[in-house]
Amino acid sequence: MFIKITDITTQVFTSYSNNEAQADAIVICLTESELRQGAVLGQPQLDQALQGLKEKGIFTGASGELEALPTHGLLPYAYVLVAGLGPVTSRETLRAASVYAAREALALRLERLALKLPSSIDSRSAVIALTEGLLLGTYRIASYRKNEPVRAELRQAVLLTEAAADAALLAQAIATAETVAEGTNYARDLTNLPGNKLVPASLAEEAMKLAQHCGFACEVLDEQEIAARGMGGLTAVGAGSVNPPRLITLQYKGDPDSTDVLGIVGKGVTFDTGGISMKDPDGMEEMISDMGGAASILGAMHVVGQLKPKVNLIVVIPSAENMTSGAAYRPGDVVTLLSGHSVEVLNTDAEGRIILAEGLTYAKQLGANRLIDVATLTGAVLISFGDVATAAVTNDDEFLKPFMGAAAQADEKVWQLPNYPEYRAMLKSDVADVRNSTGTSRWAGATTAGLFIGFFAEETPWIHLDTGGTAWLWSEKGTEPKGATGVMVRTLASYLCGSAIY
Ligand code: BES
Ligand code: MN
Ligand code: ZN
Repeated sequence: MFIKITDITTQVFTSYSNNEAQADAIVICLTESELRQGAVLGQPQLDQALQGLKEKGIFTGASGELEALPTHGLLPYAYVLVAGLGPVTSRETLRAASVYAAREALALRLERLALKLPSSIDSRSAVIALTEGLLLGTYRIASYRKNEPVRAELRQAVLLTEAAADAALLAQAIATAETVAEGTNYARDLTNLPGNKLVPASLAEEAMKLAQHCGFACEVLDEQEIAARGMGGLTAVGAGSVNPPRLITLQYKGDPDSTDVLGIVGKGVTFDTGGISMKDPDGMEEMISDMGGAASILGAMHVVGQLKPKVNLIVVIPSAENMTSGAAYRPGDVVTLLSGHSVEVLNTDAEGRIILAEGLTYAKQLGANRLIDVATLTGAVLISFGDVATAAVTNDDEFLKPFMGAAAQADEKVWQLPNYPEYRAMLKSDVADVRNSTGTSRWAGATTAGLFIGFFAEETPWIHLDTGGTAWLWSEKGTEPKGATGVMVRTLASYLCGSAIY
């Protein structure tokens, strides 16, 4: 867990012709207007080359652009990497520039980078963003090849600061950003694990390891205990698999004087075939990511373990594998959940909401008085937001407001769906307290799915986050890698740790 690959430090920048960091390349981040002003690389011929690229429209300073200029000995680096920031220098544009620089460094097999801090943003923010970008940009999915070729590694990065910079403050900023990026990459790693390599019992072991590492209390209920406590929903969803369900709980008490306890519940479906209401096999492999919510929460808890914010947390991860077999639950089944409510199962592929309902009730029983759930809950969210934004549903706008603020600080896109009573009415069952799907109608699918969970939040303030479109990508997109993204780790960490991070 958490192997530090890149050694990141700061040094005072003196001049372009001094390569004290002994770097293979120097990274210069430029806004469009800085590029227009010219003379930005500290070397006339290289500046001329850069202006040439500008005139041809190859490098305009737009965010996302990155050019590697070989110096041919004009500067004491092999390359100058120029990265576009677009119109403004912000944490978001700097993080992106750093991701692209890190990827280019790997492609060119550069082991040491120097990155010059821009002067148009405070140096703590710059250091946080650049550090995050380096570690997120060098993320690579695990490979299972017999003979894996030796991979390039970025071993060292030196952030070049102004002389006046507070070195201790910046060292702490690096450590904080490393923790956040490690949490994100940890969530990516867990989410990318194939279904045969991560089952509910191994997810539970992973959570126990994290708890031990961070000093959290940890409890794991096996399938017998789950059934004995009356969680008929989690039992039903897990029934079809030879890999039985688990209910994982972590507890962190960072504010013992407060009675406020936030429950965070993550969907931990280690593989979702849809069960008897089986999914189309085309693309079903994406469903290795159906525990992305659980992974994001564990990633955020890694950050909590290091930064120790003053909050009380109960993390609940209901975990199951949604499979078919003679023991699987069926459409038409009526199951009774921990809350005592009955659920009519119309579609066994709407399994996430059932186990999240169990998780919410359990968190409330343990004392949570506010609730957040994170889940790859619906494909319907892709119809609304594509793979761009995470959907939020809440029963308490005042609770959501600061959370949206945290998402904005973390530069993750969260957009609220409406919570009208008409949507909740679509979940009325003729035989049970609630039904798990709206039948043949797929209208407002992401909203009704969220509101099913909200039914079990009852009066407790609650936020639901549907990462069905954002937790996993079919191909690399901008700064985000192919496969698991680790989305919501930064937002949750930002919400829980506040200004200790952003
Ligand atoms: N895990 C899926 C949702 C999902 C699908 C996430 C595709 C990411 C990509 C969830 O369990 C599911 O199958 N939801 C169904 C619900 C429907 C049967 C009411 C869906 O959205 O199609
Ligand atoms: Mn499903
Ligand atoms: Zn699912």
